Amino acid sequence: MSAAALVLGIETSCDDTSVAVLEEARRLRSHLIASQDLHRLYGGVVPELAARAHLELLPRLVERGLAEAEVTPHKLTAVAVTRAPGLVGSLVVGVAFARAYGFALGIPVVGVNHIEAHLHAAALEHGAAPLPAVALVVSGGHTELVEMQGFGRYRWLGSTRDDAVGEAYDKVAKRLGLPFPGGPHVDRLAATGDSCAFDFPRPMLDRPGFDFSFSGLKTAVALEAEALGEPPFDPARVADLCASFQAAVVDTLTAKTLRAIEQIGARSLTLGGGVACNRALRERLTDECAARGVALRIPSPRLCADNAAMVALVGAWSLAAGPPSEAQLEVVASLEETGLIGAPV
Ligand code: KG4
Ligand code: ZN
Repeated sequence: MSAAALVLGIETSCDDTSVAVLEEARRLRSHLIASQDLHRLYGGVVPELAARAHLELLPRLVERGLAEAEVTPHKLTAVAVTRAPGLVGSLVVGVAFARAYGFALGIPVVGVNHIEAHLHAAALEHGAAPLPAVALVVSGGHTELVEMQGFGRYRWLGSTRDDAVGEAYDKVAKRLGLPFPGGPHVDRLAATGDSCAFDFPRPMLDRPGFDFSFSGLKTAVALEAEALGEPPFDPARVADLCASFQAAVVDTLTAKTLRAIEQIGARSLTLGGGVACNRALRERLTDECAARGVALRIPSPRLCADNAAMVALVGAWSLAAGPPSEAQLEVVASLEETGLIGAPV
């Protein structure tokens, strides 16, 4: 009997350092995520500091991840690492570490696309997506609506034309004096506010297609925030602003996603990315999918946010499809340059 496939996953594309050990592309033997709190001081991610923190954290995290998995390095069968898209300095730290580690052990190293990993994170808990499927990846850097016909077979339906939805959350939160990252704080306060208090725009809903735009909505909230005067702000007004902003975001994401589901005749919807933790978005899509008989697959919060488990999974699937190439380890900052968009379905 051959030894079990044990893939070490490494994720360092932004400000989370994460390591996972995945057995047979199914069972997570360990999964660690170290969030770099130092960026809170600056109200946003500082790329140079993120890269340096990955460099310091990664070797110790790998050691701990293997210990928790009760796996010695020589038992590993492959290393999977995020190679794009993301902050170049941060990606380089992960890829350089993975290359050296794999070389020392004499095992393959496979580069993984971070967005493709978000597309499949739900499979770790929910199994394979009933096809055809629609996926919505919503994070601090991305807002992507994708048709999935199988592993590696995607058709890009829409993206944001300006701010990513998580970025809009973080900027609105900053304007309201809330800590970084602001999404969870806005979500929490929105639950206590009146979502009809402000009539914010639902951007791009009147246009055909699946693209998004959040910068106009963010500016509309900022203008209303001016009227709050100097801090400390009236907590009830802040809650109303959060609730009204969140309602506009959820209406917009939901309408475009349902449009995609209907056009494709999708049997399932998969969510991914940090904003998929949003309470209102989850509730709304749960109701809408139930009403249409569409299977909704939302990962648990740890698998929504940036994590190495999804990287190990996609790495394991890619290795099962064929040997890794050198080009797969090339570090690329933007999603557009990765070749994932426009790949044949
Ligand atoms: O996927 P992620 O961990 O990192 C990347 O950006 O790739 O996503 C982080 C983003 C941040 O913008 C954060 O504010 C947002 O996800 N976020 C939320 C919630 N939890 C995290 N946004 C809205 N509601 C939430 N509950
Ligand atoms: Zn991400």
